Amino acid sequence: MEIIQNPEAMNRWSREQARSGATICLVPTMGFFHEGHLNLMRRAATLCDLVVVSLFVNPTQFGPNEDLDRYPRDFERDMELVRREKVAAVFAPTPELMYPQGFQTEVRVKHLATHLCGKSRPVHFSGVATVVSKLFNVVQPDVAVFGQKDFQQLAIIRRLVTDMNIPVRIVGHPIVREADGLAMSSRNANLDPANRAAALSLSTALQLARTQAEQGLRSVAVLATLLEQHIHSFAGTAIDYVSFVNCETLEPMDEVDECTVLALAVLIDGKVRLIDNGYVLPQKAD
Ligand code: PAF
Repeated sequence: MEIIQNPEAMNRWSREQARSGATICLVPTMGFFHEGHLNLMRRAATLCDLVVVSLFVNPTQFGPNEDLDRYPRDFERDMELVRREKVAAVFAPTPELMYPQGFQTEVRVKHLATHLCGKSRPVHFSGVATVVSKLFNVVQPDVAVFGQKDFQQLAIIRRLVTDMNIPVRIVGHPIVREADGLAMSSRNANLDPANRAAALSLSTALQLARTQAEQGLRSVAVLATLLEQHIHSFAGTAIDYVSFVNCETLEPMDEVDECTVLALAVLIDGKVRLIDNGYVLPQKAD
């Protein structure tokens, strides 16, 4: 497995592979791997000949008061884990290599980025769209796999590749959960035992919404009040949003239907911001 730091070397490697006829699937990550990331890598290995994992804690997607400094990192452990997977190369640039002096371009997906996390994290999605555009240009993948946990991010990236005619197929991979339902996230590493218990407020809220909707409750106003009460019953939780949105446009909905996604963001103990989401009603099999 190759570990490549320099964007130009990465691009040369990719073009050589493409010349020899190999297809490339990119798994963009910010590291501190957990089972969720490893699942993305395994899915990627079923889609293309070669898997490239990018590992870069992208500073431009963190606002001034966000957790860039506290974002967990362990490069050696990550390399140990990734070596066990079918990964051909890891692209791990430094911030200086990704954003050299004079860098001033920003990619912004206007409307989709204003909903949900975009309201409390105003610079986040332009940072994501910018770095993902760069990763696509450097790695030149045929396919890229993203987790559905970052539901809004996935919608924005799909929009980005469509709008900008970027020839990369985007694949969304289902959320991977702990046995008790907590969605896997690198940020879970920052939860102490009490906060770990409070973190379950998100997945149990999702479950509650599904049970209520299946029993016929479709009013978003009523469901949202129920869920807010539920989340606040866990000590140390502060709700950023409990939103029922259209699965394609991310516009808020008044009544639950087949395309309604419940998206949640909760701050645990004032420091660990967690998100979760899911369709409220059962989906027809593909
Ligand atoms: O989902 C993430 O880990 C990041 O937002 C991504 C897509 C790697 C861009 O930095």
